[in-house]
Amino acid sequence: MRWPTVVDLYSGCGGVTAALRRKRFRVVAAVDNDPLAGKTYKLNNKSARLYSDDIRNVDPAEIRDADLFGNDLDLLVVCSPCQPFSNQNRNRKNDPRAELILQAPRFAKTLKPKIIFFENVPGLASAELSNVLGKLRSRLKKIGYTLSQPTTIDLADYGVPQRRLRCVLFATRKGFQIELPSPTTPKGKRKSVKEAIGALPPLKSGQKDERDPLHFARTHQPIALQRMAYIKKNGGDRFSLPPELELKCHKGKKGYPDVYGRMHWGRVAPTLTTGCTDITRGRFMHPRDDRAITLREAARLQTFPDDYVFAGSARQIAIQVGNAVPPAFIEALATSLRKAVART
Ligand SMILES: C[S@@+](CC[C@H](N)C(=O)[O-])C[C@H]1O[C@@H](n2cnc3c(N)ncnc32)[C@H](O)[C@@H]1O
Repeated sequence: MRWPTVVDLYSGCGGVTAALRRKRFRVVAAVDNDPLAGKTYKLNNKSARLYSDDIRNVDPAEIRDADLFGNDLDLLVVCSPCQPFSNQNRNRKNDPRAELILQAPRFAKTLKPKIIFFENVPGLASAELSNVLGKLRSRLKKIGYTLSQPTTIDLADYGVPQRRLRCVLFATRKGFQIELPSPTTPKGKRKSVKEAIGALPPLKSGQKDERDPLHFARTHQPIALQRMAYIKKNGGDRFSLPPELELKCHKGKKGYPDVYGRMHWGRVAPTLTTGCTDITRGRFMHPRDDRAITLREAARLQTFPDDYVFAGSARQIAIQVGNAVPPAFIEALATSLRKAVART
């Protein structure tokens, strides 16, 4: 059977590419301007050509000639940055990065994919940003593609041990519709934090697992350790801190309830972000140990296999992991994508 061809725009550290390759898609080219994410990408995905540049400088005709040998493409993946659409971005109405999603029609015009797949945060479909989606729809229409309505799904329903709400869209020619697969891990069958990371060795602040370069606990300040000792195991939060240990900025405030919160063994993790190993950035404390989760734990909660190699410093790896599209979700979607490619 022929492996469908893929071009992965905004490929990051390669979550989408790695999953599609495992499902027998042939990723011929990828584009991303982050050199370290690119290094990780190449370490794990040697066969795809990586265009390590600002996407606006990349000529799709070069991809068509050099990587597709003049043939039309099967699948174009577009996971443009989500920060411009995130509801945590106070400047989201004027964030110029929102326009990056509009590179898709430029590539589609030349590569002529059967299917275009978009993944982003639910904010992409917000009324406030309807102009971006409107522009995308009309530019795609001009070159013969119909953009589906945005659908918001929780990736916890697709094998990811994490609540991760995402907006997905497809564009096809002749109005061809693509159905999302039924949840593989619906409520009641979700993968828990315990299933994902429970078997990893316990660590104290500053300790490392000599057998695993990504399983090391950051060193917390004494005051942070004092606070963590008061936060109940398994799902506790900062509201159990005695007044003398409360952060000044939290006193009398109910906001940001996840900061200094612990994950719960029996539930899915909260949405991992680029700050996923920092307890001041969200509910990123280990359910049992008094420390933030390690990079290994973060990578597992994003469903990267343990043999996936990451390049860069701890901070840079946390950014790559937090930005990634969880491979398990793409694997769950792969059969629908393959069928759609075969039918269009
Ligand atoms: C959501 S992440 C992509 C995640 C990736 N698809 C995966 O599966 O792991 C968005 C990516 O867009 C890249 N990016 C941001 N601005 C860019 C630009 N102007 N040109 C190319 N890539 C860009 C970032 O470096 C980041 O890796």
